[in-house]
Amino acid sequence: MALPESFLQQLKLSCDIESVISSYVTVKRQGRNRACLCPFHSEKTPSMVIYNDTQSFYCFGCGAGGDVITFIMKIENLDYIEAVRFLADRAGMQMPETGVDDSAAKLKMRILEMNREAARFFHRCLISPAGQAGMAYFKKRQLTDETIKKFGLGYAPDSWDALRKHLRAKGYSDEELYKAFLVSRSQKGHYFDIYRNRVMFPILDLRGNVIAFGGRVLDDSKPKYLNSGDTPAFKKTNQLFCLNFAKNECKGSLILAEGYMDVIAMYQAGFHNVVATLGTALTQEQARMISSYVDEVILSYDSDEAGQKATKRAVGLLSAAGVKARVLKIEGAKDPDEYIKKFGATRFKLLLDGSGSAADYELERLRQSYDLDSPSGQADYLRAAINGVLSSLATPVERDVYAGKLSRETGVARDTILAQVNAILAKKRRTKEKKEWQDIQSGRQYYADRVNPQKALNKREAIAEERIIAFLYKDNGFSDYILDKISPDAFATDFNRRLFRIIAEKIQHNIALDSLSGELTPPEMAKLTGYLAQTAELQNIKDELDDDIDVLLRHKNRVTDDKIAEMGLQELSQLAKQLGSQKKRDHTKTF
Ligand code: CTP
Ligand code: MN
Repeated sequence: MALPESFLQQLKLSCDIESVISSYVTVKRQGRNRACLCPFHSEKTPSMVIYNDTQSFYCFGCGAGGDVITFIMKIENLDYIEAVRFLADRAGMQMPETGVDDSAAKLKMRILEMNREAARFFHRCLISPAGQAGMAYFKKRQLTDETIKKFGLGYAPDSWDALRKHLRAKGYSDEELYKAFLVSRSQKGHYFDIYRNRVMFPILDLRGNVIAFGGRVLDDSKPKYLNSGDTPAFKKTNQLFCLNFAKNECKGSLILAEGYMDVIAMYQAGFHNVVATLGTALTQEQARMISSYVDEVILSYDSDEAGQKATKRAVGLLSAAGVKARVLKIEGAKDPDEYIKKFGATRFKLLLDGSGSAADYELERLRQSYDLDSPSGQADYLRAAINGVLSSLATPVERDVYAGKLSRETGVARDTILAQVNAILAKKRRTKEKKEWQDIQSGRQYYADRVNPQKALNKREAIAEERIIAFLYKDNGFSDYILDKISPDAFATDFNRRLFRIIAEKIQHNIALDSLSGELTPPEMAKLTGYLAQTAELQNIKDELDDDIDVLLRHKNRVTDDKIAEMGLQELSQLAKQLGSQKKRDHTKTF
């Protein structure tokens, strides 16, 4: 992605990182640097540091980090070029038009415009005489005019080309409409409207862009819902329906529902902290998004078999993301929408307040599947509860509380139950340690560090590499010294070697370092700023550097020695030749 270096430098000069970040969070002075609450995870004491000298940020809590462009990419959910454009707009700078492939960004813009126009079209249809059928459907489901307006609901007329004609007249091509998932193409190449005779639910992102649609049939025909496929403006596994409203009203907890109508019914009944996935099961990404807003989720899926299965899955994903799950027990109705209609909002509120923890819910399900009147049924229940529920609880307090409950229920002493739980936990820990050790030994990916998986195998070297990279990057007068002493091939880990090479190249060609966010992915940028942050306080740089360089050189020699030991005669003589020619090349250092 070739944006002119001069432009990027100008941009960074105009967009001071501290002032950019201050427009999102309150920044406080902390020594030479600035600190703030990290906007990328929820926290109460600041662990994000802003470094004015390197124009970077790093969160010691969640590992987010990078330069001003990475920050905008993350917080505004933009890709690289979009973030640059965003900052350029902010600074009143003109984007250079040549040499930049921004066709993807342009298409995304066009799709968002088309979607907005389509949403307006569907909504106008709904409230016009032509939309009677759709309006009658929403009225049957007891939606008020206010709700219909709030959610921008619409109706796609029973026609093969109403929307297409409308958007063509506005200057959008069939190809564009097709890419936006608004029309489909027949085998003969004819384009036609995807949504026909359906009520329409526009899906909005956090900034209020219409990114997709869901359309429901008016009767019992199939498929019940048609949803936009993924487009450059929409990835359904990364979005939540109604999060644009709920994010401002969640106050610590979110309700997670199964579908559009549940969300809208709950919203209309006064519960505004409600979201839903978009026709898929909850994903890891969505759980992570949720965790950046709240610590607790109330799951209110349908009471049928599928809903209960999805609940169990969601509980696991949420707790892995650090979010506590409670589960709503809906009795006498198939889903929250029906419950509210049958029993009213007040009773639904009671249901929400009384919703048990995920553990209560799972115990209840276990109780239903064992015969608690027989001693053997009780023993089986107890075993399943300890294995499946208690030993998955995250904290000792929770385990204690549930051991107490289970003890009262079964008459087995609490300490006995706890001892059993602890034995299982110890066994799990051993298995986990053993597996980690095996992974390390076999060189399999070590999940703790995805950017630099080899760190697990060469910890000492990797840490030395990190410091060397930081000093090279910061250039406290040691760059030449470092480049003189060490070359990329001395590095033990691939990621650090690549990073070192990129930075060394920039320095040798006198190119500003701050354009790195074009070459490194956001997680890689975060890693680099982590290195910078961790060396910020080091005093005796020269001594530290010498030690680190020593670590790498010794490692390199050891590797060479090992290799030589394994070599046959022929290979050895080849190596000798190579070493001879390398000596000559040594002072014309190449990277
Ligand atoms: N869904 C879908 N495609 C289908 C059926 C369902 O994408 N053919 C998704 C929709 O997002 C829907 C959710 O799964 O909102 C839940 O499905 P369901 O319970 O069948 O729909 P409800 O929202 O309850 O819809 P309604 O009350 O209108 O029947
Ligand atoms: Mn439902």
